[in-house]
Amino acid sequence: MKWAVLISGGGTNLQALIDAVAAGRLSAELGLVVSNRADAGGLARAAAAGIPTAVIEHKDFASREEFDKKLVDTLKSHQIEWIALAGFMRVLTPIFLNAFAGKIVNIHPSLLPSFPGIRAQEQAFESGVKVAGCTVHFVDNGVDTGPIIAQRAVEVVEEDTVETLRQKILAQEHEIFPAVIHWIDQGFVTIDQKGTRPIVRLAIP
Ligand code: GAR
Repeated sequence: MKWAVLISGGGTNLQALIDAVAAGRLSAELGLVVSNRADAGGLARAAAAGIPTAVIEHKDFASREEFDKKLVDTLKSHQIEWIALAGFMRVLTPIFLNAFAGKIVNIHPSLLPSFPGIRAQEQAFESGVKVAGCTVHFVDNGVDTGPIIAQRAVEVVEEDTVETLRQKILAQEHEIFPAVIHWIDQGFVTIDQKGTRPIVRLAIP
């Protein structure tokens, strides 16, 4: 299936996806990389891998809705079916969410539902938790609230700083994100309803 990867920054998660495709661990076709910032380091990673890129700067748009409409038009014009948010630091409106309903996944650097939103690693560090981690989840209309697909934990030790914790979490992100996207791409991930709550089922052979 044809995926777009949306980024805002350095793109190490994008690189992990590129590397997984090259290594044959990820079946997804990475058809487009979109950044909302022209200076995002991930754009060079995409270009080096021969993936088409688009820069759509949110600051050029009067509203979130207009920005999202441009995003949707760009993705549709590239026949994109699925979206991976890889460090994309914008909240999406229903215009975007409805256009790709159930087909957007995000990687977040905390064990959700703890520490949603920005600066998740700092939030975790400052709270004094002994276990931190990352989450891959489907995106719904809340901030980091959608159905959880997979998580990885890391231990927080005495010697850790925010930066060492960030790096430990990032190393786990780089393993789990390509794996989850491969599972989705292969049709191993479905959403069921458990009472009022959507729950993700993994059927990995
Ligand atoms: C990653 O840690 C990702 O989980 C986080 O931004 C970083 C991007 O790094 N995303 C969020 O905080 C989303 N709320 P990268 O550009 O090197 O992949």
